Amino acid sequence: MVEATPELSSLNACASPASVLQMLRTATAVQHRALEARLPLIHPNLDRTGYASIIQAYYGFHVPLQRHIAHFLTPRSPDPERYKIAALIKDLHALGLSDAHIQALPLCTALPTLETHAHLFGIMYVMEGATLGGQVLRRIIAAKLGIDAQSGGEFLDVYGRETGRLWKAFLKALAEFDHPRHNDEVVDAACATFACFESWLDRSGVLL
Ligand code: HEM
Repeated sequence: MVEATPELSSLNACASPASVLQMLRTATAVQHRALEARLPLIHPNLDRTGYASIIQAYYGFHVPLQRHIAHFLTPRSPDPERYKIAALIKDLHALGLSDAHIQALPLCTALPTLETHAHLFGIMYVMEGATLGGQVLRRIIAAKLGIDAQSGGEFLDVYGRETGRLWKAFLKALAEFDHPRHNDEVVDAACATFACFESWLDRSGVLL
C-alpha cells in the first residue's frame, strides 16, 4: 500500500475522529486497498497509453456522477469548487484526444443510489478522499511518465494547494452531519461508490 505523504498524515491526525468518519474508514479500507492494488497507476509497466486509458475511464465515471449529483441538488447547484470535469477534459486534450473523441467516450450508467443527503456524503467521501491519493499519484506519474498538470496530470492534482483546505472543510461538514440515525446510510453509499467505480474501471478494461 502506498503511504500518505507526511503532510497528509498530519492533516488526518488533526481532523477530529468523528464516528461516521471512523465508520467510513473501517468499512471502505478493504475496497480502497483492492482498488489501489488493481489500478495500474503505480505499476512499473504503466505507459502513456495505459495512463490515457485510465483518465478516459475516470471521465466516463465522473461525468455521469457529477450529473447525478447536480440533478439531486437541483435547484441548488453543486459546489463549483469541487467540480472536476474541466480538469479531466484538459488532461484528455493534453493526451491527444479531440473534442469529438471525448464526447464519444462511454459513460457509466450503474451509479450509486443518490436519494438522500446521507447518500451524498458517502459518495463525496469517496470522490473527495481520492484527491488525497492524487497528491501521491501525481508525483509518481510526473517521475515515471513526465506528465504534469499541463501535460495530462491536472486531474490528479485537481485542487492543487487547496487539497488540504477542501478535505478539512469536507470533514467538518461530515462531522456536523454525523448522526446514528443515518450514519449507516452514509457508509453504505460510500461502499456502493467504491463498488460502482471498481466495476466501471473493470468493464473499461483498465484494471490489473
Ligand atoms: C493507485 C491508486 C491509489 C492510491 C495509491 C491511493 C492512495 C491514497 C493515499 C496515500 C491516501 C491518503 C491516506 C492518508 O492520508 O492517510 C488515500 C486516501 C483516500 N483514497 Fe486513495 N489511493 C488510490 C486510489 C483511490 C481511488 C480510486 C479512490 C476512490 C475513487 C480512493 C479513495 C480514497 C479515499 C476515500 C481516501 C480518504 C481516506 C481517509 O482519510 O478517510 N483512492 N489514498
